[in-house]
Amino acid sequence: MTLEQAQRIAALRSRYQVQFEMQMSAATSLNNYDYLDILDRGFDELGLARPSPDVLCDVGCASFWYAATLAAFFRPRQLLGVDLEGHRLFRDGRTRIDYAAGYVARVPHARFVVGDYRRHAEPADLITAWFPFLSAPALLAWRLPLSLLDPAGLFGRIRRNLTPGGLFVMVNHGPAEAALAAEWCVAAGLERAGTDRGAAREPLACGAPRPLPARLSCWRLATASRPDAADIRINQ
Ligand SMILES: C[S@@+](CC[C@H](N)C(=O)[O-])C[C@H]1O[C@@H](n2cnc3c(N)ncnc32)[C@H](O)[C@@H]1O
Repeated sequence: MTLEQAQRIAALRSRYQVQFEMQMSAATSLNNYDYLDILDRGFDELGLARPSPDVLCDVGCASFWYAATLAAFFRPRQLLGVDLEGHRLFRDGRTRIDYAAGYVARVPHARFVVGDYRRHAEPADLITAWFPFLSAPALLAWRLPLSLLDPAGLFGRIRRNLTPGGLFVMVNHGPAEAALAAEWCVAAGLERAGTDRGAAREPLACGAPRPLPARLSCWRLATASRPDAADIRINQ
C-alpha cells in the first residue's frame, strides 16, 4: 500500500467513524474502504448531499460483504441486501447465505434476502446496485445462466420500488458500461440526479483490482412520472 492510500484510508476512517479491519479479514476490509471511497468521491463529484434513508435496498448484493460500508455512508434505518444466488457453495463448504449472515450480524437493522429482485415488491427510498449485469460475458464470468440477463426487468423493478423523492445509486465498470446502464435507467423512467463536476481525486483503488474505473451515477424518478408532476398537469 502506498503512503497516499494509507492517508486516504485514515481520512475515511475518521470521517465515517469506521474500522473495517476490526470486523473482517484484511482483504474484505480493503474492499470496503474501496467502496466507501467510491461513494465518498462519487457524491462529491455529483455535488449531491448524502441521503439518510429509512429503507436502503441493495440489489444483487452477493454475500453483502459491503453492508458495513452502506451503513456507514448512508446511515439507513433499515438496510436490506437482495441476491438470487444465496445457495452458492464455496470451497470451504459454506454457502453465500452463511457469509451474508456473518456480515449482516455486525450491522444494526440489516438483513439479507435470497430472491430475484425482479419479483421483489418492497418500496425503498434508497436503492443501490453495484455492478449490475448488463451483458452476457459478465453473467457468464459469474457462472450464471443467460436467462438472467434482463436489464429491462431489473431496472423496471427498481423504478417501481423507488419511492417518490427517493434515489437510485448505481456503480458500473467504466464509462461505456455506465452509458449503457444510463440508457436502461432512462428507458425505465428515471432521470439523472446531480451534475457531474469531473473527477476531483484519483480513486483509492486499494481493493480487488478492477479492469476499468468504477463510475457512480445517481437517479430519481423522471419528472414526468412523479405523482406530484402528474397532479400539477391535471390541475392546470
Ligand atoms: C456482478 S455481481 C455484483 C455483486 C455485488 N454487488 C458486488 O459489488 O460485489 C452481480 C450480482 O447480482 C446478482 N443478481 C443478478 N441478477 C439478479 C436478480 N434478478 N435479483 C437479485 N440478484 C441478482 C448476482 O447473483 C450477483 O451476485
